[in-house]
Amino acid sequence: MKVTVVGVGNVGATCAQMVAGKNIVQEVVLLDIKPGMPEGKSLDLWEAAPINLYDTRLTGSTNDYSKTKDSEVVVITSGLPRKPGMSRDDLISVNAGIVKGVTENIVKYSPKAKLIIVSNPLDVMTYVASLASKFPDNQVMGMAGVLDTARYCSFIAEELGVSPRDVQALLLGGHGDSMVPLLRYTTVAGIPVTDLIDSEKLNAIIERTKKGGGELVNLMGTSAWYAPGSAAAQMVEAIVMDQKRVFPVCAKLNGEYGMKGIFLGVPVILGKNGVEKVIEVKLNKEEKAMLDTSADAVEKVMAVFDGMNLM
Ligand code: LAC
Repeated sequence: MKVTVVGVGNVGATCAQMVAGKNIVQEVVLLDIKPGMPEGKSLDLWEAAPINLYDTRLTGSTNDYSKTKDSEVVVITSGLPRKPGMSRDDLISVNAGIVKGVTENIVKYSPKAKLIIVSNPLDVMTYVASLASKFPDNQVMGMAGVLDTARYCSFIAEELGVSPRDVQALLLGGHGDSMVPLLRYTTVAGIPVTDLIDSEKLNAIIERTKKGGGELVNLMGTSAWYAPGSAAAQMVEAIVMDQKRVFPVCAKLNGEYGMKGIFLGVPVILGKNGVEKVIEVKLNKEEKAMLDTSADAVEKVMAVFDGMNLM
């Protein structure tokens, strides 16, 4: 089985490293437009195999998509990352064309691939990949919810001084400041988080989560990669191992949550067919209003893309 990662910047390279290290596929192909970089990074990762004990073969390709032929999963990380002061939405004019072109090349060689989009603005780039690939909806998804939920859980674990493994949560909506962490669905080993942390501190954690990507951009001058790369790799694993994991994933809604045609973060079952089912959780009025606000924000950027007349 083969997995391709397009774009071998920090996020793509971290994702490739994590997937290779999991020892779950025969080959990981790294593809980028920058000559020598994908070959170099794949060679470096291959040289780490005897130390980190994996058998995964690594192949680098400077823009030769024939090497990606018959990939089971393709992770698309191509495009510019954020700089301080930029929102994810500011990236659309450059990244839309890049994601469109990459997707068109990928589908020529891997018509059955499951596509995981990581480029920003995430929800709209997933929409772009869906249009460009003409793939069925289950085959096209975006990585954001796994990352945003991980950030949220890490802050809760830090606050309580407990293992991050024991924090479980659900986060809905777009990958932007209007994302919707759901307190009602947040537990620590089954204990409602509201029993353990007071509401003022929880609100601060929620606000920090919403701006979690921006916090890192401000610290580093560019966007994050360890958690984003790990999150994408976890989605790859769920698909190639047919794990039926329940993850928040950016997927196309076809009536779920009262929405149609929009790409938004919702809980799904992730298995060998990609998004095998969108799970509809019962939201109260306040939660539904927050999800609607997040959907409005995504729809505005989808409309910006439509106005670009790229398709
Ligand atoms: C972040 C970028 C990857 O949230 O969107 O760090």
